[in-house]
Amino acid sequence: TTVQLKRAYRNYFPIGTAVDSKMVTDPRTASFIAKQYSSVTPVNDMKPVNIHPSENVYKWAPADKIVNFAVQNGLKVRGHCLVWFYRMPHWFFWDNGQLASKELLYSRLDSHINTVMSRYKGKVYAYDVLNETVAKTTETTQYSRIDTLYKIAGEDYIEHVFRTARKADPSAKLFYNDTFYDEAKRDKIYAFLKEMKAKGVPIDGVGIQCHIGIDGMSEELLSNSIDMFAKLGLEVQITELDVSIFNREAKAKTVANDSDDYTIDKEGKQSDIFNMVFKVCRQRKGVVTGITTWAPADINNYLTKRLGKRNYPNLFDNNLKPKPMLRK
Ligand code: G3I
Repeated sequence: TTVQLKRAYRNYFPIGTAVDSKMVTDPRTASFIAKQYSSVTPVNDMKPVNIHPSENVYKWAPADKIVNFAVQNGLKVRGHCLVWFYRMPHWFFWDNGQLASKELLYSRLDSHINTVMSRYKGKVYAYDVLNETVAKTTETTQYSRIDTLYKIAGEDYIEHVFRTARKADPSAKLFYNDTFYDEAKRDKIYAFLKEMKAKGVPIDGVGIQCHIGIDGMSEELLSNSIDMFAKLGLEVQITELDVSIFNREAKAKTVANDSDDYTIDKEGKQSDIFNMVFKVCRQRKGVVTGITTWAPADINNYLTKRLGKRNYPNLFDNNLKPKPMLRK
């Protein structure tokens, strides 16, 4: 039977899913989402590159559809994301062919953050204020080498954007959102958050994305990580849970990436991994304040593109049955 996530988890934390504006306007998928989940996150429609493509142009419609759908159905909304160097339109960084000054960059960031947060005040309860700025473990630097925000303003752009967000909507929870697959990257994120909290940067929580390979994530890594972040006084949310269904030998891709084959994992390992994450989070009620899956949005987009139909394999259905190979 289909697990009614909203009912099953109402005493723990909101269970959410990633959505795009099409999914919340198609009555078939909209009713599924309203029934199954208590929260939604825009996969792309609220990213700076999508919502604020040029300095005097905001494209509100897709994000408005998602927020209005959520309000009409009593769902919470996670705003994703206010600042991510990888998805900032380039106009933020340039001034007549030169790199913008720190002051000009800050005035642009402040205008963006204030405009978005005031539009959705009282409707978006939490924001990924900053996404994935900590460098991969393969980089010796703490911050990503391709972070142009850092190149222009140095580390204190981080404190700046969180302080701007706090002022823009004091009722919103402010998250730093990132992903890790091993202890090395987790430790880099932990060191970063410890430093920011010590400086008094107003970060309320950390989003652990949980893009997990089909070989899984160790329960110990996930448990220890949540406990470590909690000791910094941060609440924790699993923000982008999806499980790769391609084995690593085949250069694992997450189910979120388009590919030629879409294969439900034969041994149902996918649901085992989801169930491990849910178990660890249930054991940390009060510290973990939400789980959002990323896959349905991408699965749906993928299946719609390939098969022209809306299909939502219930990712938490313990009876997840292996599905026949769906080819392009
Ligand atoms: O919709 C346009 C389409 O009209 C156009 O023809 C096509 C080719 O340019 O692009 C389409 O937009 C793409 C969009 O996904 C929708 O599929 C963008 O190019 C592409 O960059 C975008 O990728 C998203 C990616 O973030 C970058 O923003 C993925 O959908 C999304 O799943 C992924 O999500 C990220 C989180 O935001 C942060 N954490 C990691 C996670 C996975 O990478």
